[in-house]
Amino acid sequence: MSVKQSFSIIRSQICGHSVTALAEKFGSPSYFYDAATIRDRISQLSQFDVIRFAQKANSNIAVLDLMRKQGVVVDAVSAGEVHRAQVAGFKVGGGSHDVVYTADIFDREALAMCASQNIPVNCGSPDMISQLGKLAPGREITLRINPGFGHGHSKKTNTGGDTSKHGIWHSQLDQCVELANEHGLKVAGLHMHIGSGTDFEHLSQVCDAMKQTALAVGDSIHTISAGGGLPTPYRDSDTYLDIDRYFQIWDATRKELEGSFGHPVSLEIEPGRFLVAESGYLVAEIRSVKKMGENLFYLIDAGFNNLARPILYGSYHPMSVAFAGEPTEETQQAIVGGPLCESGDIFTQEEGGFVCSRELPVANVGDFLVIECAGAYGFVMSSNYNSKPMAAEVLVDDEQVHLIRARQTPDDIIAGESIPG
Ligand code: LLP
Repeated sequence: MSVKQSFSIIRSQICGHSVTALAEKFGSPSYFYDAATIRDRISQLSQFDVIRFAQKANSNIAVLDLMRKQGVVVDAVSAGEVHRAQVAGFKVGGGSHDVVYTADIFDREALAMCASQNIPVNCGSPDMISQLGKLAPGREITLRINPGFGHGHSKKTNTGGDTSKHGIWHSQLDQCVELANEHGLKVAGLHMHIGSGTDFEHLSQVCDAMKQTALAVGDSIHTISAGGGLPTPYRDSDTYLDIDRYFQIWDATRKELEGSFGHPVSLEIEPGRFLVAESGYLVAEIRSVKKMGENLFYLIDAGFNNLARPILYGSYHPMSVAFAGEPTEETQQAIVGGPLCESGDIFTQEEGGFVCSRELPVANVGDFLVIECAGAYGFVMSSNYNSKPMAAEVLVDDEQVHLIRARQTPDDIIAGESIPG
């Protein structure tokens, strides 16, 4: 397992482009994504038969288009994500497996869409089986199984065990297969995603659970999905996962099943974070440097409306300063906060809301703060809280720099609202 190179706290460029020039051109705050990093992470997973991008991590249609051009397919957790995939050029429905709807419920829109367009469905509840079966008998489905345990980087991203709402509880497998049979649905695949930010300790447990479940269903199984959850480094001390070892463990499970069933079993992986986290940078301008007692604050023009991970999970993101003025190598401890009218709007906080400081270069108003490893669950979780516009998104592809989402205007923010009478 290779050790992550250390993150620097001074950054003048993103993919060879000056941060200050980028910020001047696209405004602040803006997200920048490095296309080369995304392509590299895709290539690292090439041993898997199918790489299915969990687009919830970053669903900009330009990012989806890049994925598609690399042979990656996608999952969709809502009718909105199906729509994005279609606009990005994926074949939707008609039996194509480019876009799979995977969720624990169907809202009415998604059910109608999946049934009428023949979109493959990964069912995460018995109700999904019967609801789809009534409208579209005869289809093939896959089942998302909760094996009874899980693991995640935070309690909020653990998707296994009996306090998780995700998947079909393992001991209800027989009933669910029966329910599928009653509706003429064929269980053709299984899926297990036990959490986001998982590790090897749990992997052999998951593979074993997958094997037992697949054997219990029988030889109708043609695909197994390892789900997502591959961790990526956010700190100097974080290491990269040994992808080859990860693949080998899953591949051994797949081969055992092929041996039992006497036919090929396709092995899918469904990462979100792994493919996009490290590609992303949120660039914001420092608008105030102020003291509160002994504490020094850098207040930037991005808030938790732009990047919610620190306030939601106490997530740590590497940060660096891009100097607009005189550069310095001097550092100091600073708390980094945003513009929102809420004291939790702090990027340097730990789980539980404990505010901490970070050693950062001595910076001034007008310098830029770069929040790194922000390409996964960054923009997609943003909101218009405090009527702040959603940031611009920019794809940097070597020499080429493309605006892939314009910053919202004040009118965009109130679009759809009306005053009665
Ligand atoms: N497959 C399923 C069924 C999932 O629920 C998820 C993530 C993934 C794949 C992709 O997991 P990944 O490879 O990205 O770990 N907002 C949180 C993460 C929530 C993950 C939700 N499901 C965060 O910012 O860390």
